[in-house]
Amino acid sequence: MTKPVYINKKIKNFNKKITISGDKSLSIRWALIASQAIGKSKAYNLLNSEDVLNTIKCLKKLGTKISFKKNNCEIIGNGLNSFFLKKNLTLNAGNSGTLGRLILGLLIHYPHKVKLVGDKSLSKRDFSRVINPLKDFGANFYQNKKTSLPLYIQGTKYVRPIKYYEKRGSAQCKSSVMLAALNTPGKTLIKAKKSRDHTEILFKHLKIPIKIKKKKKIDLIEVEGKQNFLAFNYKIPADISSSAFFIVLTLLSKASKLTIKNVNLNPSRTGIITILNKMGARIILKNKKIYKGEKISDIFIKSVKSLKAINCPSNLNASAIDEFLIIFLAAARAKGVSYFKNLSELNQKESPRLKLGSKILNMMGIKTILTNHSIKIFGKPDIKLNKNIEIKNYLKDHRIFMMSAIAALSFGGKWKIHNKDSIQTSLPSFLTIIKKLGGKVK
Ligand code: S3P
Repeated sequence: MTKPVYINKKIKNFNKKITISGDKSLSIRWALIASQAIGKSKAYNLLNSEDVLNTIKCLKKLGTKISFKKNNCEIIGNGLNSFFLKKNLTLNAGNSGTLGRLILGLLIHYPHKVKLVGDKSLSKRDFSRVINPLKDFGANFYQNKKTSLPLYIQGTKYVRPIKYYEKRGSAQCKSSVMLAALNTPGKTLIKAKKSRDHTEILFKHLKIPIKIKKKKKIDLIEVEGKQNFLAFNYKIPADISSSAFFIVLTLLSKASKLTIKNVNLNPSRTGIITILNKMGARIILKNKKIYKGEKISDIFIKSVKSLKAINCPSNLNASAIDEFLIIFLAAARAKGVSYFKNLSELNQKESPRLKLGSKILNMMGIKTILTNHSIKIFGKPDIKLNKNIEIKNYLKDHRIFMMSAIAALSFGGKWKIHNKDSIQTSLPSFLTIIKKLGGKVK
């Protein structure tokens, strides 16, 4: 157990430019997909965090040659179906739902039993959502508990393409099926509620046979399998989900300005910007460009005197799913009652975030009305804290830690926040950046 972090002072005004490490979703996808390509792929600015390191460890155990130094990584792929599986193999996905769910898609073709384990948080999460479609391809699963890790997967040489309807708006489920489709003969058809589409964009860029029809609420995706593709290089842009903490810190601080360079602003990830702008922020995007099908730009943000409450449209949920905890802090300072609904998926994350987000707001003296799928937040525009608040080890959720630190720096009070190490999951430089902006953290 590491020592807790103490924050006893609000941050003073700042005016800075920062860079944030590489996008986690893209880093994990790059590594998994490069392992299936033919030849040497290189990534620059790959996120050097535990979720990505676990991805690399798993791929190495599957026989893939990888070198990873600082933020640059090389993967030598031998094409589809080229993993070398030893007997009694155990893969550890650590804290990462993305890794755990996506890698299963790559294992359905191997007739070996592989054990998949994860940390305490991942072992509480639902895996039936990927087990069911992967069974339809022909894979077998063995597990003690019905829907969670640890589990065993045993694939088959006789896979068949499937028709799959993804109803949750989960990019992990959609991508797991897409990776399974890669090495399956024939056409796999997916009807998917809108969610982040990095896998689709990468497939297109790699000329993997994929057809996409975008409808209002769903996407129709067709992947034709068994087509090898060549290695590819990738410069990973900054992560909007990690940037979100600094965007809200700037918004809630006095007379501050911040520029965040080169952020991935794929429209399926920018819900936070739409939501905060609806609440009265003025977030400006500069130097817009397209990189290998992904939108990228610098983000410029200024603090604002007042924010207004929001009745958040549910069609923004998937595009802000990892940012709600920090959005709740903006709602805590907004004028009026904010309402976020159809959010039961938030309780399926690294921790039950809808419940815990509400609990932390209550500790701050903010009234909430919570159900299993919604929250009303009664904002206090003049919120000033001068009490002691202790944030415990909530399944070591990295985003609970970072939300709490931003609350302490924005609203004051004396905070003791456990589980500093959780930031290793997604943003190891979180506290270094806070200090660079002038935040006092002990
Ligand atoms: C992710 C998808 C989302 C998100 C997670 C990363 C991805 O999960 O919460 O942090 O990279 O595909 P779901 O697909 O479960 O919504």
